[in-house]
Amino acid sequence: MSDFSREQIIKLLQDEENESDLLKKADAVRKQFVGDEVHLRGLIEFSNICRNNCQYCGLQRDNKRLARYHMSEEELLKTAKQAADMGFKTLVLQSGEDLYYTRDRMCRIIESIKKNDVALTLSIGEREYDDYKAFRNSGADRYLMRIETTDKDLYHRLNPGMNWQHRHECLMMIKELGYELGSGIMVGLPNQTIESIADDLLYLKKIGVDMAGIGPFIPHPQTQLKNAVGNNLHLSLRTMAVMRLLLPDINIPATTAMESLHPKGRIMALKGGANVVMPNVTEGEYRRLYELYPGKVCVDDTPLHCRSCIGAKIIAIGRKIGQSYGGHNGRLPL
Ligand code: 5AD
Ligand code: FES
Repeated sequence: MSDFSREQIIKLLQDEENESDLLKKADAVRKQFVGDEVHLRGLIEFSNICRNNCQYCGLQRDNKRLARYHMSEEELLKTAKQAADMGFKTLVLQSGEDLYYTRDRMCRIIESIKKNDVALTLSIGEREYDDYKAFRNSGADRYLMRIETTDKDLYHRLNPGMNWQHRHECLMMIKELGYELGSGIMVGLPNQTIESIADDLLYLKKIGVDMAGIGPFIPHPQTQLKNAVGNNLHLSLRTMAVMRLLLPDINIPATTAMESLHPKGRIMALKGGANVVMPNVTEGEYRRLYELYPGKVCVDDTPLHCRSCIGAKIIAIGRKIGQSYGGHNGRLPL
């Protein structure tokens, strides 16, 4: 089942008519391989400052209209403690590529947060090998960084000043250091072909991701891609479902971007192969300022509200909230 050819993958991605069958199949595979538990990850968006200029992203450094913030160490630790106290078994620290968070500062933060009983995921972009190594030694368990697309020409057009091969090498370092590796892509980028999405899925399989996040590209009005099309929820759902068939036992989130395009986006995803949700546990004004794309859901809500909202939705579709760390193959924090 999991050794589809590129041609078969392309057919599945193109087949709008049989989408519901594909999602049902992915749902059955999800149930068989990872069960009914939905693992919640508390997402802390601790800085929207970024040195990069990704053409799709609202946090790009050229977006001068965005008010920038980074949390202080104390604020970040407090947010993390609150999320751990709310029962999250995994916390995800995500930010733009903000070098205020030096190696030493990050290590201090990781060590403090790991005093709570949580698995810790970092999502802070491309760093040096010695940084990744130090973070790992300080206790970080997982690392999340999307490859975004494996079409190298497209990648280089969308990410000026960045290098696809370098990003790939970062993912390899992360894997070598024994992190659980999360990666993923955006779907519906301008000039992205179905064939290249098939290649993306085969790439994620080849590098052996433990988690794959797949979300629709949503054009942001303060970026170069403001007039692009994007917003392809259904192709994103099919891509996610095929990922589940290709890698039956990995973690697959129902992404926030899906929910931003449809009020039931995450539920559709959970019924089509996904087994993870990453509720935002960032407090107050910061939620609005972490605007990767417009229409991001939950920006006016509180962490507690989102936790109970998503919890209720999960129960309502007959699933359970995961009580463990929820690593790939039940791995503990490493
Ligand atoms: N639409 C959808 N997803 C986006 N991301 C960044 N900008 C956008 C956008 N406009 C995604 C990227 C990034 C992740 C944190 O958010 O895939 O890796
Ligand atoms: Fe935030 Fe439902 S998850 S309001």
